[in-house]
Amino acid sequence: MGKIILTGDRPTGNLHIGHFVGSVQNRLKLQEQGDFEKFYIMIADTQAMTDNADNPDKVRKNVIEVALDYLGAGIDSKKVNMFIQSQVPELAEITMYFLNLVTVSRLTRNPTVKDEIKQRGFNASLPVGFMCYPISQASDILAFNSTCVPVGEDQLPMIEQTREIARTFNHTYKEIFTLPEPLLPDNKTCLRLVGTDGSLKMSKSAGNCIYLKDEPDVIKTKVMNCYTDSNHIKISDPGKVEGNVVFAYLDAFATDESFKKYLPEYKNLTELKNHYKKGGLGDVKIKMFLNNILQETLEPIRKRRKEYEKNIDEIYSMLFENAKKAREVAAETIEKMKSAMGLDYYHKSL
Ligand code: TRP
Repeated sequence: MGKIILTGDRPTGNLHIGHFVGSVQNRLKLQEQGDFEKFYIMIADTQAMTDNADNPDKVRKNVIEVALDYLGAGIDSKKVNMFIQSQVPELAEITMYFLNLVTVSRLTRNPTVKDEIKQRGFNASLPVGFMCYPISQASDILAFNSTCVPVGEDQLPMIEQTREIARTFNHTYKEIFTLPEPLLPDNKTCLRLVGTDGSLKMSKSAGNCIYLKDEPDVIKTKVMNCYTDSNHIKISDPGKVEGNVVFAYLDAFATDESFKKYLPEYKNLTELKNHYKKGGLGDVKIKMFLNNILQETLEPIRKRRKEYEKNIDEIYSMLFENAKKAREVAAETIEKMKSAMGLDYYHKSL
């Protein structure tokens, strides 16, 4: 059996360059390699509702935004089944059975969920659905018997939880699930791209993102405002490369080709970094270089997106058809699960 790939994002905002290098690029690579049996990309609106129950409009609006971002980035809806999570209700049924296989104390140890709870300041108002989303995410993955999950680093605890649930199910009832493997980007900087302000993560609420759909002038302004090194005041001052956002982005995006094209006086990033560290290289120069690279990367994405924006109805019908197909697969999994658990009353008595 070939690879079954499943991945997704919560529709709470547009995709940014952190998503791009963290997971979208890997998805595009997998799509081009074509070495898979099935490839699903899910827009996780049900999961987005776990901390946006009072703001469904935001989720609804962002479903189509994220779909446009995917298509703009080059995801091909003929090769990949792109669907909306809430339109596959089988996932909710699977979650009901998985909820019984995880302890509350295990859930509270999930480091990503812990961080998110802190970030959102939930305290006593923590919704049960939010606490349990890793279990629902396990359903997303296992419903399709996925073997490969291309994600960013923050999703590793979810994959670990999914593997535990699969193992417990297999052990308690019957061997029906394959244990999925995460697929991370090889480039370390891409695991978690810093925000333009230098904070650890790009996030909409921090206002430190460069979005895939940003217009050229917006990209340029954001690049020019990127945090570099607060002690690098005069050009002649030695500069720091660690913690410098421009260099973090260059690590993620610059290739030797980019140097040939936009900054031929340096051979590669190591040379540029060495000059910066020594002193004598100004921030404007490295920012202009980064701007050129990002403009080149994002222009085709933005243009393709604009084309898709003209056919929103078609995108919704594609998502609708895909959800139908996904439902069939998930329903088969439920049948297997119920039969493994002995909840298949009618078949047995026939
Ligand atoms: N948790 C992911 C995010 O925060 C979204 C997601 C939901 C997902 N279900 C998934 C990712 C299954 C990979 C596989 O964006």
